[in-house]
Amino acid sequence: MRTMTAVALCCLAAMSLVGCSSQESGDIQIVFAAGNDPSGATEALVDEYNAAHPGVRVEFQAMPANTDTQHDAYVTYLSARESSIDLYSLDVIWTAEFARAGWIVALPEGYIRTDEFLDGPLASVTYKGTLYAVPWFTDAGVLYYRKDLLEEAGVPVPETWTDFRRACREIAEPRGMDGFVWQGARYEGLVCDFLEFLWSVGGTLDEATVVERPADAERGVTEALGLMLSFLDSGISPAGVLTYKEEDSRRLFTEGRALFLRNWPYVWSVAEGEGSKIKGLAGIAPLPHVEGQTSYSTIGGWNIALSTYSEHPDEALDFLRFITGERSMKERAIEGGYLPTLRRTYEDADVLAANPHFASFSEVFQNTRNRPRSPHYPRMSDIIQENVHRTLTYEIEPATAAADMVRELAEIMAE
Ligand code: GLC
Repeated sequence: MRTMTAVALCCLAAMSLVGCSSQESGDIQIVFAAGNDPSGATEALVDEYNAAHPGVRVEFQAMPANTDTQHDAYVTYLSARESSIDLYSLDVIWTAEFARAGWIVALPEGYIRTDEFLDGPLASVTYKGTLYAVPWFTDAGVLYYRKDLLEEAGVPVPETWTDFRRACREIAEPRGMDGFVWQGARYEGLVCDFLEFLWSVGGTLDEATVVERPADAERGVTEALGLMLSFLDSGISPAGVLTYKEEDSRRLFTEGRALFLRNWPYVWSVAEGEGSKIKGLAGIAPLPHVEGQTSYSTIGGWNIALSTYSEHPDEALDFLRFITGERSMKERAIEGGYLPTLRRTYEDADVLAANPHFASFSEVFQNTRNRPRSPHYPRMSDIIQENVHRTLTYEIEPATAAADMVRELAEIMAE
């Protein structure tokens, strides 16, 4: 397991304090741990729930937004059978791992109306046919572009990497801007970006290809790594991209210093919000692809699960229903731009008025793909991260990285 960061340890310390205060007040204490919500919508919802439920006090434990930090903190915590967190918000890639380890509880039969949820997020909460969590919000990789600058140059939104590179050369270079920023640090976000580059060249790491046709898988990986290197070699992407996570790349874009950005839907509200230097100037499109191929977005998103070690499962389940219910989806969509997992929230007039761009997302959402769904996913992710990052820092050749990646993934998939 990766070394747990100081930030995560601080969060865990804070959780223990929360646990103490509840005993003093006499209320039943429910702790809900989830990534920080800068919009404040989640905290407002928790306050609303608390006001309506005397005798129960829900504490929102805001975790650092970074998925790897949260993962490692939760694994440490749950391995020790700690009971002071009742509900965990889990990245879509963790359900199998947490369910198999026995850390999260199978939800009661009929707990949610499954037909009300979008298919992709719903698939991410089941393990071996059993429901282990409730989908909370969904994500998909999006290309953000500077609408004003493309229009001014008379350049259409590029659909192929060739046109994309040309746009960067013609528009970004003369202005001294970065052409394209994305998430190149060695962490989970790099896997999401890499898979999108891989799919855009027609490659795949699906099990059948990796195990039965490894040479095909290697070819795609080599090409995708070549594409990523070409962004760095040509200066379209700054070298710093290799240390960027979501917020680092987002900041450059909303400060007006980059022409294109690959990121998740949350960036839209930030780009349109106070403090953005590009308010009204950004557009959203599917990511480009090589000629003759199709682009696909990586599906991300977060679910909420009940801890096996919760001492108040009934109260926790009641709050879980509220925080994943229609009202919460709506508030978080309006205030924070989070994409709901309930189908009908997309038809809500208030939600659409606050998020007119939700209509543009529907084009991106036509073509999405999942990361592998496996209890061994963290090991797979590590293999991909290591081989991609070492290639981008020129430690190994793309073909060597591709061969190592496919061989190591095949070993895990064959288990
Ligand atoms: C977003 C996605 C999540 C993904 C992470 C990678 O939080 O929702 O699924 O793993 O980004 O950084």
